[in-house]
Amino acid sequence: MNRSKSTPKVMVTGATGQLGGLAISTLLKRMAPNQIAALVRPKKEADARVSKLDQLGTETREADYEDLESLRQAMSGIERLLFISSNSFEPRRSQHQNVIDAAQASGVKFIAYTSILNAQDTPLVLATDHRETENMLTASGIDHVVLRNGWYLENHLNGAQQAVKDGFIAGAAGDGRFSSAGRADYAAAAAVVIHPDFVPTRQVFELAGDASYSLYDLAAAFSEQFDTDIRYRNMDAEAFRSALEVHNLPQTLTSILVDTDLCAADGALEDASGTLQALIGRPTLSLSDALSTTP
Ligand SMILES: NC(=O)c1ccc[n+]([C@@H]2O[C@H](COP(=O)([O-])OP(=O)(O)OC[C@H]3O[C@@H](n4cnc5c(N)ncnc54)[C@H](OP(=O)(O)O)[C@@H]3O)[C@@H](O)[C@H]2O)c1
Repeated sequence: MNRSKSTPKVMVTGATGQLGGLAISTLLKRMAPNQIAALVRPKKEADARVSKLDQLGTETREADYEDLESLRQAMSGIERLLFISSNSFEPRRSQHQNVIDAAQASGVKFIAYTSILNAQDTPLVLATDHRETENMLTASGIDHVVLRNGWYLENHLNGAQQAVKDGFIAGAAGDGRFSSAGRADYAAAAAVVIHPDFVPTRQVFELAGDASYSLYDLAAAFSEQFDTDIRYRNMDAEAFRSALEVHNLPQTLTSILVDTDLCAADGALEDASGTLQALIGRPTLSLSDALSTTP
């Protein structure tokens, strides 16, 4: 693992993850590798994602969101923290409190946290931990911005092959619209705000793709891209749950996916603010452009 002689001032958590990795590669276009620390969960075995970070020249530091002391040590000397929300569902609130407590103890001056669209008002079950984390950040007194990310385009694109196989997309979102953006666009926004030159103009950024689509539109886009007939089958909550259960997903994830579609039916994942485009200074990746590069 890299240990640079100069001390990095910017840390990215979740660095082995997809969003964190993209944020680091975007930051590296504007910052020297030895100015960036990548926080990774301690690994028992060699991990290719950590080796890749080492090759980039960033400094890798290990800590677990479950372990306050490891976080405190890892954040030594860090001034700006890109805090990527945990991907675990159950202990997420306490994990996030640990990250904020460690940042406070280590003298971190600024945090950018990846939340979810309209976290304080949305009915999305998924938002509960994000809302609490935003409140913890406020209570900490540390300067911060909240990056309220909308739905990842990839969440839908990942279902493309299954849709081709089945000839349909299952869902419960009705004609609710998703203003999704690709992870790379959300990561670019995160890289903008965590860069030392960034002076926040506001504390909360509602981030979403420039255009929205319904699951009917998604099915039509899949049909065109893969040159086969794919329909959207709108279901009630229980039928959608049963459709998901066929894929042996963890029950918590199944429940969240059902809830997300039901809330999306009422517009919970739609946003036309254009804030993401304005922040990153370019249009966001469209569904059709994303699909044209989907295998
Ligand atoms: N808006 C959306 O549509 C959407 C969809 C999915 C997720 N999300 C949220 O966005 C976050 C980033 O997305 P992503 O695609 O980059 O997720 P991801 O690829 O699953 O990455 C999550 C990262 O969090 C790290 N992590 C998890 N538990 C940890 C712990 N106890 N201690 C330290 N690090 C820990 C993981 O480390 P390991 O590599 O060691 O596991 C990984 O680096 C997710 O974690 C989730 O909160 C949003």
